[in-house]
Amino acid sequence: QAVVAIVPAAGIGSRMGADRPKQYLEVCGQSILGHTLDKLLSHPHISHVIVALHPNDNIFNTLPQAAHPKLTTVLGGGERADSVLAALQIAPEHSWALVHDAARPCLTATDIDKLLASRVQFPQGAILAMPVRDTMKRANKQGEISATVCRDNLWHALTPQLFPAARLKDYLNAAMAAGVVVTDEASAMEWAGISPGLVSGRADNIKVTHPDDLGLAELFLMRAAK
Ligand code: C5P
Repeated sequence: QAVVAIVPAAGIGSRMGADRPKQYLEVCGQSILGHTLDKLLSHPHISHVIVALHPNDNIFNTLPQAAHPKLTTVLGGGERADSVLAALQIAPEHSWALVHDAARPCLTATDIDKLLASRVQFPQGAILAMPVRDTMKRANKQGEISATVCRDNLWHALTPQLFPAARLKDYLNAAMAAGVVVTDEASAMEWAGISPGLVSGRADNIKVTHPDDLGLAELFLMRAAK
């Protein structure tokens, strides 16, 4: 079955406070989205990459990857899940959808391979994730600690997240219609009663969110290029 990568890139990145959406900020000589697309487009088991863009996006077509024969763009929506759904509309019925944030440029081929290989163990789909390392606290409204949350069995959800495309489309649609807060693909599958697998991923697969993350991404990309 074909694997189609879906890249939601229609966000405006307001937390970054930059003059353009964060995926277009430059690190190590090219845009964050450019790095992300290079990882996906060059992977031998990914047959196609669908990128969801903001309707006012006038930067994407200036990227060197824009004309790649494996790449198609669609218009994204108001929420991340709407953008993923827009891309799923054109994904082949029997394909696997590998959904990856535009803002995670440090993804490695080995982590993609690990997630793809996990389909034997997790035919229902799986996500890259990382066990929580720090002690976790729940806060009250005054910014004080109200409880210590047991970190056993607690994981950070990363991307890519890999699911059968047709199922993901159905459950994302249904979860959105039911008013569920869907911040990643797995949450829609969980809502439908499916338990996706957790595949331990690398800690350097960070999501560039705040200005400080740019320096970190640069460091990780430089290290990977050596
Ligand atoms: O805002 P956040 O960092 O959680 O966004 C995660 C990813 O989802 C980003 O790559 C962003 O561009 C994308 N997104 C989208 N459509 C939206 C909101 C976010 O494609 N409406």
